[in-house]
Amino acid sequence: MKRTLIILKPDAVQRRLMGRIIQRFEDKGLVVAGVKLMRVSRELAQRHYAVHESKPFYPSLIDYITSGPVLVMVLAGDRCIDIARTLMGKTFGYEADPGTIRGDFGASRSFNLVHGSDSPESAAFEIPLYFSEEELMEYTPAGGRWVFPADEV
Ligand code: RTP
Ligand code: MG
Repeated sequence: MKRTLIILKPDAVQRRLMGRIIQRFEDKGLVVAGVKLMRVSRELAQRHYAVHESKPFYPSLIDYITSGPVLVMVLAGDRCIDIARTLMGKTFGYEADPGTIRGDFGASRSFNLVHGSDSPESAAFEIPLYFSEEELMEYTPAGGRWVFPADEV
């Protein structure tokens, strides 16, 4: 099963939106393979967001993601990377479509509630930053074959 890394950022935790955001991923059919509430250290944030090191928003991004507890999750399912990004919506809340997480709950550029891996390569890099393989569960959810039929091409 394909996997993606999702982070419910400090604003999602502080605004007590965790349950409602997780619900959207579960409703779509994605499976929670791993989850933890944690504080991201500056060192970990710098490794995760190294691709943005030269961007003007990089210092505030590091401050933001380390500013409070986050809920980190690995979600599993066919096409889970694209599905999660579609559910999240565009990066800036004020541009994100209604019906998406960022579109429904946010209006800011930087405080955008949720992170999701943007490619298989990003997911493969990001997941081990937060989880060991032993922390990730592989299981077939009840009714799963009605969401992801095994013979679908
Ligand atoms: P993410 O990596 O968190 O899933 O978000 P994304 O792919 O939609 O956006 P990305 O371009 O990777 O930017 C990473 C995070 O940096 C903050 N940001 N602030 N003030 C700004 O112009 C600005 N641009 C980006 C956001 O928190 C964004 O999610
Ligand atoms: Mg990104």
